[in-house]
Amino acid sequence: MSDMDATSSGQIVTSGTWWQKAVVYQIYPRSFQDSDGDGIGDLKGIIQRLEYLTWLGTDTLWLSPVYPSPMRDFGYDVADYTGIDSRFGSLEDFDNLLERAHTLGLRLVLDVIPNHTSDEHPWFTASRQSRSNPQRDWYIWRDPGPDGGPPNNWRSVTGGSAWSFDERTGQYYLHSFLPFEPDLNWRNAEVRAALLDTFRFWLRRGVDGLRVDMVDFLIKDAQFRDEPNPDYTFAEARRHLNQPDIADPIREIRRLSDAYPERVIIGEVNPDLDVVQIAAYYGKGDLLQQPFNFGLLKLPFEAATLRAYISAYEQALPQGAWPNYTLGNHDTPRLATRLGQDGARLAALLLLTLRGTPYLYCGDELGLENVSIGVEQTQDPWEQREPGRGRDPNRTPLPWDGTPGAGFTTGEPWLPVGDENTRRNVESQQQDSGSLLMLYRDLLTIRRCSPALELGDLKLRGGTREVLIYERTLGNHRMLVVLNLSAIPQQVTPPHKPGGWQSVFSTRTGAKSGAVETVTLSPQEGVLLS
Ligand code: GLC
Repeated sequence: MSDMDATSSGQIVTSGTWWQKAVVYQIYPRSFQDSDGDGIGDLKGIIQRLEYLTWLGTDTLWLSPVYPSPMRDFGYDVADYTGIDSRFGSLEDFDNLLERAHTLGLRLVLDVIPNHTSDEHPWFTASRQSRSNPQRDWYIWRDPGPDGGPPNNWRSVTGGSAWSFDERTGQYYLHSFLPFEPDLNWRNAEVRAALLDTFRFWLRRGVDGLRVDMVDFLIKDAQFRDEPNPDYTFAEARRHLNQPDIADPIREIRRLSDAYPERVIIGEVNPDLDVVQIAAYYGKGDLLQQPFNFGLLKLPFEAATLRAYISAYEQALPQGAWPNYTLGNHDTPRLATRLGQDGARLAALLLLTLRGTPYLYCGDELGLENVSIGVEQTQDPWEQREPGRGRDPNRTPLPWDGTPGAGFTTGEPWLPVGDENTRRNVESQQQDSGSLLMLYRDLLTIRRCSPALELGDLKLRGGTREVLIYERTLGNHRMLVVLNLSAIPQQVTPPHKPGGWQSVFSTRTGAKSGAVETVTLSPQEGVLLS
């Protein structure tokens, strides 16, 4: 099989599980809806707006962390795994959210953060007390290196050494992310049991799945050897992450989740664009059901590049593995900032027609762009460590309408909504049939009614340097997607099909009908044929 006509490798899926058919909408809770005027989104706010998700046509909500936390990494620094931070509400509010979501037919996937805690978590407070503390080994402590510096050359994802010195006991502790997020020691059986208990707590409460943060970092080289190349990228890091025995804890997490009906385990893995590595995280169907695929986030938006990547990804997937695609999240610059507004329309068509579960980041359906955040307004500590890397610009509040506070808050929003983004608000786009928001809604309706788009095979069909073409097929159902990723008009003759092709949708002109012999595409236009 040549690269250019790769077919999806998985076995034929005809009915599919809920998460294979799901369209996931990620809510960054601080920025979705504030209900009490403190300028920070909260659980009651999310409940008020839940029907927006069903109106849009999404069916699964991924909730970024809402646990008690000092909020120095906005909740990814957890101080209590089984509570709710009072700024977001209470456990009762969480139960109400889950119940309301289920009543509306929405599933809820919860972010869990097992790689590290906050340095204010009682486990770490105990661990740092003394070298003989019973919880000392719950975290990763090492003596200084021979020169008195860090024990080895491992780096933090956010820049600088991954080790910080703790005066009291004269040892270094490991933090793969920010210094106030010490890594837990997953080689310690008590730690594993304690973390699995916290997952059980939420699974019992009824969450439909877990999105496991930095899951590929859980196990580190037992001998703490240096990375051979000191300028390693995280995709190459073989000592600090991606250890051969990483499968053990993931298998345990999966086993726990499988003890409850119809749950899903999604994992944040960061092998950059190494599709073989991504594929390894499916294991033999016993590890992650969805190891995130960040290809569309990281690759240049060019037909030839995307074709080669999709082909390689499909071919790397183990038998029966279900793909996924992500266009944006709370860690990366906004989609519309990366691709422009026309590019964002084209990307929506791509995301919602590729084979696999689409993950959509709140606000990308509005074409929100990065908001420039002044030094004095900066919130994300990553920005202080590595200027330009901060994630505040893509975490600004969702604009619901054009009023002051944008319908998000009656108070002062924790990050500015931004004038341009306020103009892109939900209310105004709902009234404009040509808006990006309505394009998402239309495409989601089409997808929901199309077995080929939801579950069908994917076959890449020729195409050129400028145009990406693929077909989705399930039984007699066939859909053809043609995307012009270039800035010049293109003409394409679709592959032969008995009875010919009919227009269904264009990213320029919306719903369409009529027979098609030749597809004429404007710059950055995509069309869907059936
Ligand atoms: C993940 C999260 C990110 C967080 C980090 C540390 O990459 O997506 O937002 O800061 O892990 O938990």
